[in-house]
Amino acid sequence: MFAALTQFGVSGRAVKQQLCCVKFWNPRDFTQDNYHTVDDRPFGGGPGMVMLVEPLDLALTAVKTELLRRGVVAPRMIYLSPQGRRLDQALVEELVREPALVLLAGRYEGIDERVFARHRLEEVSIGDYVLSGGELPAMVLLDAVIRQIPGALGHADSAREDSFADGLLDCPHYTRPEDYLGLKSPPVLRGGNHAEVSRWRLRQALSRTARRRPDLLEHRAMSPVELELLTELLGENHRETGPE
Ligand code: ADE
Repeated sequence: MFAALTQFGVSGRAVKQQLCCVKFWNPRDFTQDNYHTVDDRPFGGGPGMVMLVEPLDLALTAVKTELLRRGVVAPRMIYLSPQGRRLDQALVEELVREPALVLLAGRYEGIDERVFARHRLEEVSIGDYVLSGGELPAMVLLDAVIRQIPGALGHADSAREDSFADGLLDCPHYTRPEDYLGLKSPPVLRGGNHAEVSRWRLRQALSRTARRRPDLLEHRAMSPVELELLTELLGENHRETGPE
């Protein structure tokens, strides 16, 4: 499943360039029975299966032991679950500074609660919906973190200019042709005036954020130029309410 992360795109390149190392541990390798059982029916009844405490405990302990050998003493350990703290760019930027991350992807209905008593696991959710397992959420988290590693993106500024990098949504983008079936690209982007391009992009980002995600602006400090642009936008908005 994780080939999508380790063999393709930005994250795949980062792994190939050894900017990060992704290693996998299978709880089935930490079972004692012939069937390599990792789950069982829940105490108290009900649907689905619960992941056994022992294989998870042993697997997590083996990961910690290996990290200790590599000089990482108390790695951040994250269990992907809808019950967790919601993943956002602030958390991603916090996580990229860690020397190592241990991610636990659950399957079935959940994991035996005693795993939490054995290991200090933080719970992280990638959104208010339920997936069938923690693997995709782990890949989402890893992709977001890996692209923040210096050198992971081709262009040095790309990560800084991402949506959310400065707490705003991204501006619109254009490339050739200048005119597609009468749909024109904004002339300012082709004028060669970098200051004007930056101002236009910031204005678009502010406008989009104000319209689509006003919540993002609530606790965000504004620079003087941002305030000026927002005031301009509010004036325009007062006169006409366009699509963007
Ligand atoms: N596992 C299942 N659903 C999840 C979600 N939304 N976030 C993180 N882990 C999950």
